[in-house]
Order: sequence, then C-alpha cells, then structure tokens
Amino acid sequence: MISAKTRICGLIGDPVEHSVSPVMHNAAFNSMGLDYVYLPFRVEKGQLAKAIDGVRALNIGGLNVTIPHKVAITPFLDELETLAERIGAVNTIVNDNGHLKGYNTDASGFVKALLERGIEPRGKKIVILGAGGASRAISLTLAERDADLVILNRQLEIDWAVELASSISRFLGKEVKALELNEQNLSAVLKDADILVNATSVGMSPNSDETPVPAKLLKAGLVVFDIVYNPIKTRLLTEAEEAGAETIDGLDMLVWQGALAFEMWTGVKAPVGIMKAEAIKVLKENEN
Ligand code: ATR
Repeated sequence: MISAKTRICGLIGDPVEHSVSPVMHNAAFNSMGLDYVYLPFRVEKGQLAKAIDGVRALNIGGLNVTIPHKVAITPFLDELETLAERIGAVNTIVNDNGHLKGYNTDASGFVKALLERGIEPRGKKIVILGAGGASRAISLTLAERDADLVILNRQLEIDWAVELASSISRFLGKEVKALELNEQNLSAVLKDADILVNATSVGMSPNSDETPVPAKLLKAGLVVFDIVYNPIKTRLLTEAEEAGAETIDGLDMLVWQGALAFEMWTGVKAPVGIMKAEAIKVLKENEN
C-alpha cells in the first residue's frame, strides 16, 4: 500500500520500458515490509538537468541511472564516491536531505557476483573484452583489487582499451596491457588466464548467435563471466560450459548492482533471492 509516508525511488533513463529494476525493487520492498515504491522515469537527454531539479524538489529518496545518462549525470550531483568518479559514470544516487551522492554499483555488483562464487580476484590473471562503460567499471574495480588485467577491444578510430589502461595507471599506478581484440591475441592471452570477462555487447539479443571468443580457445579451469544477461545463457557461456569452464552469467551482476543500491536506500539487507527470481521472470517475459 502506498501511504502518505511512502519513500519514492526510481530509475531514470531512455528507454526504460524493458528494465527489470522496477519489478525487482518493488518485490524486494514488499517482501521486507518497507514503505517504499520504485518507479520508472523516462527522461530524454535534453531533460536531465530538469529531472535532477525535480528529484531535489520532490525529495525522491534514491535513483538508478541507466543509458543514456550514466556519464552525463555526474556534473549535476553534489558528490561522487571515488570509484564512480574514476569510472566517470554513476548508476545509483542517494538523496540525503537534498545532498545527491553518486555511486557505481555495477562495479561492486560485478565483484559481489565473483566473491559469491568464492572467486577472489586478487592476483588472478583476468582478460577483459571491451572498453566501454561497463568495462571501465569492471576494469577499475578489479585493478583496485590487485588483479592482473589485460583489456582487449576491437580497434575503431579511438583506441579505448589503451585509454582505459592509461587511466588505470594514472589513478592506481598499475600497469595494464591493452590489445586489439582478435583471435591471435585472444589465443595468446587465454593460455594462462584465470578469468575471462565479456564486457562487450557481443552475443546480446537479438544477436544471440554471436560470440566474442572462438569456442576452441575456451578450456577447463577458466572462469568465464559474461555480463550480457539477455539472453541469460549466451552462446559464449554455453560453449564455455561445453569446454568444462566455470561460468557466471550477467544476471548475477544485474541482481547484485540492484541489491547494493537497495541497501544504500533502505539500510536493510537486500533479499537477493527474491530479486533474482523477479529479474528472471521479467527477462523471460521480455523474451516472449
Ligand atoms: P556498455 O555501457 O554496455 O559498456 P558501451 O560503452 O557502448 O556499452 O560499450 C560496448 C563495448 O562493446 C565496447 O567496448 C564496444 O567496442 P568499441 O569500443 O570498439 O565500440 C564493444 N562492442 C560492441 N559491439 C562489438 C562487436 N561487434 N565486436 C567487438 N566489440 C564490440
């Protein structure tokens, strides 16, 4: 029941219709008996400043931020946690009496998903595919945790992998290798890798027949983490499983980034199992 005391949280992005966050968070609030509600707000690019004014004026308690605002929103906030500042992107905002602080729970959600499987990234050789927003969050947080990273990206006009590697070196004083994403480089770096992370959009629906890594390069002993969650089981994960590798799907990261945001807004431990079950339901519905 929505009451006069209900605290409002929500999502700003464009589009927002296919987001799993409203269902995931509302189910979590209900199951914990919290007087909170989570709403989707479609905000067009040019309306972001006004939307943030609205958040302050209406005293909205917390927000998630998605495409296309994750980077553009940073100058409108009062404070950024250090990691979000280094990543240059925010996916969660906490409104503390008008003081808006931005966080990046994509990064910590990724690490949570690893730790949940008993995988500690420290000292591990990790190959990361892609150098976009998601890769930036994952690479910076793994570098902070002293993982040994190689970033591979297809080369376009600007070499984002080299740019990302140099910002990691600037912020953290750590050397990270950046290479072109091709079969030869993949074959070389996967020989002694512990973990492979697909942080590109390759394999995402409707292109679910694509994979960023030829199956013959996958092997037992490797952990393969695909951040794509649509479909939940990507071609990369299917082939990794066939090769005897351990697999982690993007659903875990999706749920953990939501769970961490939930905990920041409510101060209550997130019902992760319920959130995951609801996320699966929405993803299956979206498929049909
Ligand atoms: P996100 O916020 O999900 O990270 P993004 O910032 O657009 O989205 O990044 C997408 C990543 O997937 C990028 O690294 C992109 O490579 P480019 O920087 O070269 O564009 C990568 N990517 C997308 N399609 C790809 C493809 N067909 N092959 C290889 N990499 C691809």
